[in-house]
Amino acid sequence: MYKTLLTSIEKNILVITINRPDKMNAINKDVMQELGEAIAELQSDPEIKSAIITGSGAKAFVAGADISQFTGLSVDEGMQVAQKGHDVFNSIERSTKPVIAAVNGFALGGGCELAMACHFRIASENAKFGQPEVNLGLIPGYGGTQRLVQLIGKGRALEALMTGNMIDANTALQYGLVNHVVPSEELISKAISILELINTKAPLAIAKCIETANAVYDENVDGFKLEVEAFGECFGTEDMKEGATAFLEKRKPSFTGK
Ligand code: COA
Repeated sequence: MYKTLLTSIEKNILVITINRPDKMNAINKDVMQELGEAIAELQSDPEIKSAIITGSGAKAFVAGADISQFTGLSVDEGMQVAQKGHDVFNSIERSTKPVIAAVNGFALGGGCELAMACHFRIASENAKFGQPEVNLGLIPGYGGTQRLVQLIGKGRALEALMTGNMIDANTALQYGLVNHVVPSEELISKAISILELINTKAPLAIAKCIETANAVYDENVDGFKLEVEAFGECFGTEDMKEGATAFLEKRKPSFTGK
């Protein structure tokens, strides 16, 4: 169905694997287009409750945008490339269903930006993160200058952006860039076990967790006001009634997403 992605559905989780291992899963036009399509599939398929994004092979999550597509671009074309990346990565960040990155090796440039657009990240012990665009006379163009500052703070982000140096998985853990570091062979099972737990919760409440957390970084939205509204709206859902009733009846809730 996809040319550059492998997808499978396990336990209501869409596993999206970027599949160009001979090119370190670099993001070319097709990968970017198909990532957008896979996120649309996540949103529209009622059987799918959440997603994992990972890379094919043992070496790389994604080693960046495909550099071979960058030669000879005009200023306008450069902006179009960045805008497309922003549109797709924003759709990941704003997905109403959780998307986590399982970082299985190099997450460089657009790969680090892709991981940062996900709701959170887990990494294998061999993962390495970096924004090496300055080595190419570039800067990150898929949201990296903003999300890296948001996630690890301005000083650490500017050092990474200006040196182009990579950080290893344990440093990423210490910086709060990833939530967990696990051996490679446990990476996907760890991601699945976290999502299996999240998938038992009320989907509308999960969507509101994502929306309100994103509001922290949106200057056009008052996140506190949004929280008041979102909290109130929960009382209009069947799942909230089910959750509270199940607690009082000392049984597990059965949520329907209504
Ligand atoms: N774009 C296009 N091709 C890429 C790529 C990228 N971002 N990253 C890796 N590749 C390709 C290499 O060109 C090579 O292709 P080839 O076999 O046809 O020559 C293949 O993937 C394997 O990469 P190689 O460099 O041989 O592997 P390595 O183990 O020696 O090094 C990296 C791995 C990730 C450190 C190195 O590939 C690298 O620095 N990549 C570029 C990272 C980058 O600058 N990203 C930001 C882009 S904006």
